[in-house]
Amino acid sequence: MSLTIAVAGKGGTGKTTVSSLMVRALLARGMAPLLAVDADPNSNLGETLGVEASRSIGRLQAETLKQIHDLPAGVPLGRHLEYELHQAIEEGEGVDLLVMGHGEGPGCYCAVNHILRKYLETLRSAYRCTILDNEAGLEHLSRRVSSGIDVLLVVSDGNPAALRAAGRIDRMVDDLELAIRRRFLVLNGLTDGLTPRAEEEIAAIGLAVVGRVPHDPMITEMNGAGRPIGELPAESAALREVSRLVDKLLEKEDRA
Ligand SMILES: Nc1ncnc2c1ncn2[C@@H]1O[C@H](COP(=O)(O)OP(=O)(O)OP(=O)(O)O)[C@@H](O)[C@H]1O
Ligand SMILES: [Mg+2]
Repeated sequence: MSLTIAVAGKGGTGKTTVSSLMVRALLARGMAPLLAVDADPNSNLGETLGVEASRSIGRLQAETLKQIHDLPAGVPLGRHLEYELHQAIEEGEGVDLLVMGHGEGPGCYCAVNHILRKYLETLRSAYRCTILDNEAGLEHLSRRVSSGIDVLLVVSDGNPAALRAAGRIDRMVDDLELAIRRRFLVLNGLTDGLTPRAEEEIAAIGLAVVGRVPHDPMITEMNGAGRPIGELPAESAALREVSRLVDKLLEKEDRA
């Protein structure tokens, strides 16, 4: 079984934190090898995971566009890109990282996009699980990963504005006709209980809440010290809740 989980949500609500906690919890459940894809142009998933990527897909694409007419005779574009793509994968402990980086620039070239998308889909099947940490919108998702997303986690804090953004993302999935099997809401960074207004917004979105991740001072401390989530103590309240969330998701997948 190869499971693909995408994480989306309004800026700053905790997508990258939840993605990294998911990686940690999934590895603890033996879901290795795992591929983490940073699909946010202002990427910092690598930092949070403690894996440093040297090259992004955006850069690889821009370089390919420049070299396209100078490829040695007999080297098809597909093979060249496949080789380069593998060079862009950064290997960590149990988790490999792929960074999408910035957009394609002015010379957008459909053949390159098409080949990349195909390889990304093949690449995913080589892993037990893929986590896609997305930018606030879902544009990358629709451009890069056309099919095979098992679970979309829409992350929001308890603010009504973030919850409304979560609702928009949920509707965007329908508008873009993204092939996603299951969608859930994850509430993150919770301090006190939710306000009645927030509860109303959640009910209006209509997504099942699969996790309520508390605000965790241990994360603030790790973040401040520039240390990766992998070093977060096992008793971290946020990690414990995301581990429960992962158990629920895996249980649902087993039943599917
Ligand atoms: N549960 C939590 N407890 C404590 N701090 C948290 C929690 N979740 C996120 N944070 C902190 O909030 C900030 C924003 O989180 P994060 O970077 O994960 O959000 P994001 O949605 O990925 O943001 P962006 O839209 O910029 O990519 C970070 O400093 C992170 O450490
Ligand atoms: Mg982020």
